[in-house]
Amino acid sequence: MPPIVVEMKRKVREADALLFSTPEYNYSVPGVLKNAIDWGSRPYGDNSWDGKPTAIMGASTGILGTARAQYHLRQVFVALNMHVLNRPEVMIAKAAERFDEEGNLTDEQTREFVKSLMTALVKWTRRLS
Ligand SMILES: Cc1cc2nc3c(=O)[nH]c(=O)nc-3n(C[C@H](O)[C@H](O)[C@H](O)COP(=O)(O)O)c2cc1C
Repeated sequence: MPPIVVEMKRKVREADALLFSTPEYNYSVPGVLKNAIDWGSRPYGDNSWDGKPTAIMGASTGILGTARAQYHLRQVFVALNMHVLNRPEVMIAKAAERFDEEGNLTDEQTREFVKSLMTALVKWTRRLS
């Protein structure tokens, strides 16, 4: 197994919880993210994602805010037996209007929305532990 995968799996196992933040590629999960997830699930019987409290968020320049990618990601997480938070669903649409040129999130409503996801993930993680 490549050393970078060994390191990723070690970090995943150490984590109390996971947050996936994704763009959407052709209505789905970007291949590079799916590839990392797949590596972390193998060899068979050594799935580093197993049982992890997990949240998902995403941003896109379009109006659906990565909804389609996020539902595909949720389906993959069923296969990996991850414990995914259902709500809030943070799907940030028209992202180009919410960030400044340095990539800082400047839209106050969106900042509060992301904060509510973080708070819910902490509660969820405590509940599962
Ligand atoms: C191959 C490809 C497919 C994409 N498909 C979608 C899509 O289905 N829906 C969407 O909202 N944005 C789509 N986009 C735009 C990405 O959401 C946008 O590029 C992203 O916010 C920036 O991430 P990146 O730097 O990884 O490209 C696509 C971009 C690429 C490169």
